[in-house]
Amino acid sequence: MPGKIANILAIESSCDDTSVAIVRGNLSDDIPQVLAWAVQSQDEVHSKFGGVVPELASRAHLLNLLPCLKKVLHETDLQMEEMDAFAATSEPGLVSCLLIGHTAAKTFSLFYDRPLISCHHIHAHLASVYIRTKPDFPFLAAVVSGGHSSLFRVDHYDQFSQIGQTLDDAIGEAFDKGAKILGFSQFPGGPEIDRAAQTGDPAAYKFGKVQTPDLNMSFSGLKSELQRTIKREGLEVRQSDLAASYQAALIRHLLDKIDLALSRESLKRVVIVGGVARNSELRNKLEQLKASGRIEEWAAPPLEFCTDNAAMVGVLAFRHFKSKNFVGLDSDVKSTSRPKRERRVPQ
Ligand code: KG4
Ligand code: ZN
Repeated sequence: MPGKIANILAIESSCDDTSVAIVRGNLSDDIPQVLAWAVQSQDEVHSKFGGVVPELASRAHLLNLLPCLKKVLHETDLQMEEMDAFAATSEPGLVSCLLIGHTAAKTFSLFYDRPLISCHHIHAHLASVYIRTKPDFPFLAAVVSGGHSSLFRVDHYDQFSQIGQTLDDAIGEAFDKGAKILGFSQFPGGPEIDRAAQTGDPAAYKFGKVQTPDLNMSFSGLKSELQRTIKREGLEVRQSDLAASYQAALIRHLLDKIDLALSRESLKRVVIVGGVARNSELRNKLEQLKASGRIEEWAAPPLEFCTDNAAMVGVLAFRHFKSKNFVGLDSDVKSTSRPKRERRVPQ
């Protein structure tokens, strides 16, 4: 259908960020343009619990969704009637949170008589790299966030397969739990460790090499090692040195598996997406691998598109729109892999 332009309204509400975006693309294009996007973080809501409280997150989505929608409509000067489809994340995630965004998209679809598109959150993270860059295929993609750590072989926009994953905590979860152990009060703690590590010595404390079969990863043992180190060193512990050493150990394990995956799949290019793709140690190490010739190229989305956002949902939805991959109003949401960062409301 060359020449046909599509506007898609996309919603993301799978965890603790409420986000709405409008993308527009010519159906002969591979990737649409992100016309506008808005995000409302809930970090302040969950900070004091040290993790995402599902009941509070879904209430906050209810409050934040319509202001985000109004913002993108205002910025684009578009009306709801001008949308060609409505899309929302349907899995995986916290069910009570997914339901807010997905039900909103369903209602818009029914009211404006437009197709409904359901998006997989991890596949949307994969699509986030196309927002500003055009990486050459094939490549190895590491989806590294608070809820997921997975390796994908990507051969084309719609052609990819998962080849590795974590056996326990996601790497972002290991950063967040580690930050708590280290005494940082902000949630999420990943950026806190990253910041503290800038002035620390990554060789100050020794962490063992993590051994896991194949392309599987495991981050929870490093967290226990961090706990033991703090117990052993007590008040003598140097926070920035320990943060730098812990961060180096987490990133080393991820890079070991990336290196193995590159060899096994005969790949030379790496893409990182998800919140942990913002990490400076990971970015520096990939730059070193490029300088040494181990990889040809690496890419990541701009920092604002690494963490959860609806722009990436819009890009994936556009791919589904092109192939008429629509769902019915009876479609459901799924929590296929539950983010372990979730916390219960304290009694
Ligand atoms: O992608 P995202 O918004 O949420 C999930 O889909 O889970 O990622 C959030 C995660 C948190 O665990 C946070 O600590 C981590 O990304 N993160 C970082 C950094 N910035 C965010 N981890 C390490 N270094 C950073 N600079
Ligand atoms: Zn995510």
